[in-house]
Amino acid sequence: MRRWQRGVLILSAVALAAGAAAQTAGTHPISGRRFAPVMGYPGADWLERAERIDEEEPDLALNLLQIPKGASVADVGAGSGYITVRLARRVGAGGRVYANDLQPQMLELLQRRIAREKITNVTIVQGTVDDPNLPAASVDLELMVDVYHELSQPQAMLRRLREALKPGGRLVLLEYRKEDPAIPIRLEHKMTVAEAKMEVEAEGFTLTKVDESLPRQHILIFNANAQP
Ligand SMILES: C[S@@+](CC[C@H](N)C(=O)[O-])C[C@H]1O[C@@H](n2cnc3c(N)ncnc32)[C@H](O)[C@@H]1O
Repeated sequence: MRRWQRGVLILSAVALAAGAAAQTAGTHPISGRRFAPVMGYPGADWLERAERIDEEEPDLALNLLQIPKGASVADVGAGSGYITVRLARRVGAGGRVYANDLQPQMLELLQRRIAREKITNVTIVQGTVDDPNLPAASVDLELMVDVYHELSQPQAMLRRLREALKPGGRLVLLEYRKEDPAIPIRLEHKMTVAEAKMEVEAEGFTLTKVDESLPRQHILIFNANAQP
């Protein structure tokens, strides 16, 4: 084989490998689930839509979680603060809500909302794709409402989230039911219980409860396993 022919072969092999990496970059290495794109901040209007009360029953969801006054809670992927303000009322003046998001524009909307509603027990935390930037062993509950399916680095995020939980704390995911084709939302924005269990348990958690009381979403409650 001539030198130029060998060069073409090597270049083709590199291009093939790069293509394969690009194809798998957006999928979970254990479940094979495709990650959803992050909802941009212009989507904040959709988060605040009036129909959301009937579609998601957010207050029922929080009732089911029985969050005590004085609790320390992280709203991970808080968006414009739709859930944050509800959490802030529940934990009361003696509690704290860490409102985390990836997008500074979402956090600006959230900041304006808590100022408007004169809420003083919320700490805003700018996160990155692989780190929620929460203090270690600081929270009783980590809540991700319609967020986990968007994580582009779920394994790294779960490791950090585990470190931020107090002993006995809970990680809770609300996710649209992928098992039900009648639920009108794109497939990559839904999850099955089996996918969530497979992915989250691989990072040192145990699925301790699945609650199906909501109209469209699973409530998936995980506890961190004791350190080996
Ligand atoms: C569909 S919105 C839900 C917002 C909010 N939880 C609610 O229910 O109104 C998803 C949010 O997750 C955020 N997000 C996605 N990946 C994230 C990550 N790695 N860390 C923090 N936030 C993330 C997005 O920026 C977006 O604000």
